Amino acid sequence: MEANKASVTAELMARNRAAEHLLVPAGQRICNDSYAHHFISTEGRRNLNSPLRRTIRRLVFRFLYPGVYNTIIARVRFLDDRVQACLAAGLEQLVILGAGYDTRAYRLNGLAERVQVFEVDHPATQAVKKAKLKEIFNPVPGHVHHVPVELERDNLAEQLKKAGYDPNQKTFFIMEGLVMYLPPPFVDKILGFIREQSGAGSAVAFDYLPPSMVDGTVKAREGRSMMKAVRKWGEPFKFGLNVNDAAGFMRLRGFKDIMNVHAPELKHTIFKGNPRGEDISGIFGLMFAVVDSR
Ligand SMILES: C[S@@+](CC[C@H](N)C(=O)[O-])C[C@H]1O[C@@H](n2cnc3c(N)ncnc32)[C@H](O)[C@@H]1O
Repeated sequence: MEANKASVTAELMARNRAAEHLLVPAGQRICNDSYAHHFISTEGRRNLNSPLRRTIRRLVFRFLYPGVYNTIIARVRFLDDRVQACLAAGLEQLVILGAGYDTRAYRLNGLAERVQVFEVDHPATQAVKKAKLKEIFNPVPGHVHHVPVELERDNLAEQLKKAGYDPNQKTFFIMEGLVMYLPPPFVDKILGFIREQSGAGSAVAFDYLPPSMVDGTVKAREGRSMMKAVRKWGEPFKFGLNVNDAAGFMRLRGFKDIMNVHAPELKHTIFKGNPRGEDISGIFGLMFAVVDSR
């Protein structure tokens, strides 16, 4: 990431959630995010508000990035569902790494009452988010703690503890759209921190892309388009994992009860009965795993 520039991809993710929430009838929505539109740029807002721009962009997006929109909104839902399951199992802390304009802390039922939420992100992106939050809420809800961290430079454990993180509590860590932007040793470092410095029953979830998205050998059209775009925005992919290797990767790093989902499988779960589910990208994988504290 560039040092002083807010993440472009974080804003694009907010655009997807805003589009799903504002343009899809409630009964057919894959995810809900009534706050997302606050975080999108003037251009993003124009694209969302104009039927002509929307149609053009939909056609271009479908051609360049087939299945990606559905996969992104399904990843939001997959993670929302995991948060609800963790809440039912006695969650005490939620740590959202690479939070961007994530709004779970403000929109998911049950968090504000019982859970301390830590939003960790690059200082440049987080500064933009905090300014927006001040406009939306006055004051910003007290269960949310903002932790500015450059994950390739700063000490995550130190910064989290300074913000009030308790390593003995049951914690769920979310890394949505994050690991692919980090060099592999930093992904290991974060997983090591989660394994060593969280309470019994803690868990992590993230999405991942294959190594072919890092070395440039990817064949899928959406993969080639994504690689080109993130390079242009100064946020190149650095970490890749094959779906068939992901469970072993997590076991080796001290995790158990692994739920490893290849995105097209979501046709049979999240998209069941919804015709949009035919169009899912095969390059994404989704991971949920519990810290093995034996
Ligand atoms: C694709 S966005 C995802 C944002 C959000 N999780 C979502 O899904 O809407 C990637 C996020 O990772 C953050 N990020 C990337 N590299 C980082 C780093 N080295 N240190 C801290 N944050 C980083 C960016 O600031 C950005 O918010």
